[in-house]
Amino acid sequence: MKYSRMTKISPIWIPLFFFITTFAISSNHLKAQSNPVTIPNIIWFETYDLMSRFISNQDQDFDFSPNPDPLSSKSTDFPTAEEVSRKWLSRHPYPRDTVEKRIIGVMDDMQDNQAQGMGNVLPEDGRLMRMFTELLGAKHVVELGTANGYSSMWFCLALRETGGKLITHEIDPERIEMAMENFRRAGVEHLVTLIEGDAHENIKKLNGPIDILLLDAEKGGFCDYLEKLLPLVRKGGLIIAHDSSGEAHLMDDYFKAITENRDLETVFVDASRWGMCITRKMR
Ligand SMILES: C[S@@+](CC[C@H](N)C(=O)[O-])C[C@H]1O[C@@H](n2cnc3c(N)ncnc32)[C@H](O)[C@@H]1O
Repeated sequence: MKYSRMTKISPIWIPLFFFITTFAISSNHLKAQSNPVTIPNIIWFETYDLMSRFISNQDQDFDFSPNPDPLSSKSTDFPTAEEVSRKWLSRHPYPRDTVEKRIIGVMDDMQDNQAQGMGNVLPEDGRLMRMFTELLGAKHVVELGTANGYSSMWFCLALRETGGKLITHEIDPERIEMAMENFRRAGVEHLVTLIEGDAHENIKKLNGPIDILLLDAEKGGFCDYLEKLLPLVRKGGLIIAHDSSGEAHLMDDYFKAITENRDLETVFVDASRWGMCITRKMR
């Protein structure tokens, strides 16, 4: 019968078996490295490997998936969130009333004429900060690192809605002056208290509960800021550390501190290329 004849071992299979095995050994570079490299092991592994590929009809060296290594940022051609945002969203939100129009007008000017070297958050980050502030109904927001007040403006857009206030800290006198002027021009002075001087000292006088804390001063100070202010952050409150992707190399100690604390839950978000490490205080 046709089928029973196929099960007979023909003499041609013996040299063919050795040929396939030798070929497999040389082409696969002894992949059985985790096993002791003995001739029987190699023959067994390579034959098994070859047969598995033949049976599953797959070449395992060829990856068909669109994102072969999700940990490598270079492994995908997807647009970034920032690119998609810039295609679909205006730089700043459309004003819904005259008060917003005034604030957003100043924000436009800050982006066009003051942003150089200021280290401002990008609009994509600001949008997320505003959204969180409104979602949490935040009444008490604390910011470390005001610069000229651009990120503060994003908070102000939300605090108008929640009835909350912002306390922001800045050490550089020139930037303090710029920020004060920007807050005045935007008509948000009543929403913001700017504390002048070294935030490491000044935050000792703060009271809780803090709904949202933005860390955006010098990265080397983040652990100290966290240690001093975490007790004041309310349960369910957020700690947002800016530049968690762009300056990740400066933030190892901070990342260690937040990820090892079991009462904190963290997500790293790249709304913009700079990234934000968003941490929720669970209890
Ligand atoms: C990246 S900028 C802040 C940008 C701002 N959050 C924004 O998005 O518009 C960092 C600011 O932190 C300030 N800074 C650095 N160390 C500080 C400290 N110890 N106390 C207060 N401010 C500090 C710097 O002067 C600088 O203006």
